[in-house]
Amino acid sequence: MLQRPRRNRRSAAIRGMVRETRLSPAQLVQPLFLVPGKGVKTEVSSLPGTYRWSIDLMLEEIAACQELGINNFILFPAVPDELKDKVATYSYDPDNFYLQAARDIKELFPAICLISDVAMDPYSIDGHDGLVGEGQILNDPSLPILAKMAVAQAEAGFDVLGPSDMMDGRVGYLREALDDAGFTQTGIMSYTAKYASAFYGPFRAALDSAPREDADIPKDKKTYQMDPANAQEALREARLDTAEGADFLMVKPALNYLDIIALLKYESELPIAAYHVSGECAMLLAACGNGWLDYEQAMPETLLSIHRAGADVIITYFAKDYAQRVYDGRLKY
Ligand code: PBG
Repeated sequence: MLQRPRRNRRSAAIRGMVRETRLSPAQLVQPLFLVPGKGVKTEVSSLPGTYRWSIDLMLEEIAACQELGINNFILFPAVPDELKDKVATYSYDPDNFYLQAARDIKELFPAICLISDVAMDPYSIDGHDGLVGEGQILNDPSLPILAKMAVAQAEAGFDVLGPSDMMDGRVGYLREALDDAGFTQTGIMSYTAKYASAFYGPFRAALDSAPREDADIPKDKKTYQMDPANAQEALREARLDTAEGADFLMVKPALNYLDIIALLKYESELPIAAYHVSGECAMLLAACGNGWLDYEQAMPETLLSIHRAGADVIITYFAKDYAQRVYDGRLKY
């Protein structure tokens, strides 16, 4: 035999030389769930190891993550019901605890990259990402609300904004609003191919942000999030977001959509982000909790696979765990 591929797998040293993909903690983004108050740290029951934090304890958590090499964070608010309304007014109230937290975080940690969530669902009594009227999610009337939210977030110090709402034309609309307000350096990580997925359950439970159970309004997000059957359509969304000025294109979820990640990586010049969503992490944790999979091997293999498919950036609830293992020397990359 002239060809023996096993020769290049013979030792850890050789495997290390020929390894094609390496995932550094610098490429990971840690999601953080924020609640109002002080001294709060409550675990999300369907996502063991993930907590809802009040800002005082969250600052300590960010310091711990940064120590391990995590420099990027994406912040989500759990908004109490009494602060929600039809038009998400609280989302751009300057006293809003989410915007206040961003100011505190950036003051203490000016070097980190702080990413926001732009969508109405955490602030909307209807639990939809856009404005609900006439039994529908109204596209164009949602845009000025999202723009007010985006400008308020830029003012609070977020480095990159993450429109997760999937309204048509929102990237261009936000870009123009940001530029007009003088925020030419605030980036946009667009949720380009965000699918109407069953894997957002633990996140919606953590934030209490699921669509409201009401006969008058759609119970799912299928009229704005993408059909899981579609790939061509992701190319169309990518072309539009690029033309509208996005700085990153995101695919979400990650694991069931590795083909979409690969497609966008191949077709686009922009950095590709993948959101390894709550339900995907919950599945792995449940199997590991039952002793059916080994977390120490399954977790890094999962993140590496998302990177190998083409994601330059990975948003994952396992970011800190991955960085911890690299820091300890338990994990080599
Ligand atoms: C909503 C938003 C969702 C997630 C991020 N932003 C949920 C949804 O679209 O209903 C899900 C993230 C996860 O499941 O980890 N704007």
